[in-house]
Amino acid sequence: MTNREKFGSRATVIMAMAGSAIGLGNIWRFPFIVGEYGGAAFILVYILCCFLLSMPILLSESIIGRRTHQGTFGAMNTLAPGTAWKWLGLLTVISPLIILSYYSVVGGWSFAYLTKALSLQFKPENAESVIGMFATFSSTTWAPLACTAAFLVLTSVIVYLGVNKGIEKFSKISIPVLFVLIVVIAVYSITLPGAGEGVRYLVKPDFSKLTPGAYAAALGQSFFSLSLGVGTMLTYASYVRKDENILASASGTAFFDLLFAILAGFAVMPAVFAAGIAPSSGPGLVFETLPFIFSKMGAGGQVISAAVSILFFLTILVAALSSSISMMEVGVAYLVEEKKLSRHKATFLLFLVSLVIGVLCCLSFGSLSGIKLFGQTIFNFCDRLCSNFLMTIGALLFSVFVGWKMDKKAVRDELTNGGSLKGPGKVFPALYFLIKYVTPVTIIAIFLIGILA
Ligand code: PFF
Repeated sequence: MTNREKFGSRATVIMAMAGSAIGLGNIWRFPFIVGEYGGAAFILVYILCCFLLSMPILLSESIIGRRTHQGTFGAMNTLAPGTAWKWLGLLTVISPLIILSYYSVVGGWSFAYLTKALSLQFKPENAESVIGMFATFSSTTWAPLACTAAFLVLTSVIVYLGVNKGIEKFSKISIPVLFVLIVVIAVYSITLPGAGEGVRYLVKPDFSKLTPGAYAAALGQSFFSLSLGVGTMLTYASYVRKDENILASASGTAFFDLLFAILAGFAVMPAVFAAGIAPSSGPGLVFETLPFIFSKMGAGGQVISAAVSILFFLTILVAALSSSISMMEVGVAYLVEEKKLSRHKATFLLFLVSLVIGVLCCLSFGSLSGIKLFGQTIFNFCDRLCSNFLMTIGALLFSVFVGWKMDKKAVRDELTNGGSLKGPGKVFPALYFLIKYVTPVTIIAIFLIGILA
């Protein structure tokens, strides 16, 4: 696979991987999960999960992808030909596509809310009606559908342009911009009157809130946030050059993802407390609570609050796009390498498939809300299926594959570039121990606790 595109440098590898990692998970999910499980104590558990469990999996995916320079299916077939591991390759082609479909619905909402912010709809006189606006908007038919489709078109255009001209270029610009934006919003939020309570909530741990369910939530969130278990990181790693230090790029990715999630916490929570709203108000936090806050605070400085609401929804949209492109790339790599389709045809085909599933997910907030799969709406079913099961199973199997199936020498070679990297060489025994024992055992334990709790 010598003619395969490659990321240009360490910085671009980290930007692309961090682009996949930083997304709706950081801005939309992380703050409300932190709210649900009691703030700072949960953040501490989350940080431990990231470094002890998620990092070894990110490394496992990086090892498999960079070793083979192939997408998930091809990689499994190359490293374990003729075995059942090919099913893991196939599963991880399908699961990112399902995620892409429902993720695009939320991506579409951020698109819609950006237009609402641009047309200055979050005004003090609208403050009370803003709360009901989300339920009304998401349950209508055409506007959310059009926004979902628009989001998928944007995703497809970037992927269509290729690894270097599309994904790499977009990530190189969007990631620094996202950090600037989230810092600006956090500063605004922290300086609102009454925000101090929200800051204390994020820094003062209350360990009594750490129920068994909190550990399962931390694990699930850290996998979702680092895009693990569904082959996206594996596929991106397949575009990494042989002389790159994958321990350094994985550490950089995990660090930036965590930093962004914490900054998003500071962008959202202090504003929520300033407006006197319960921090545990659930998934609506971003599309109901925050527009309400932007409207209400507008009384004190309308221009600033209008500008912040525009920046906020722009941040969500760009972050969502930098993730959705990674989901689509997994399927594109598969169709190009295994089915010999051109990149353009592969992108178009995946656009159509994710549009069809996306339409069903989108309508499950309105006209299809009566259709239930295992008691869940189509959207919730897809989300639960992927984030509670497929990602966890995929993550577990990737670490088992590297720890138990791959040759230990091949794993060491990949991490140390054939012995030439001294730092990774020194920490190899500890990392290998984490990948082989700690990660699989803890994932199984937390998974069972989450189910039984
Ligand atoms: N990491 C992304 C986020 O936090 O929004 C979500 C995600 C991206 C999940 C890519 C799965 C994936 F393959």
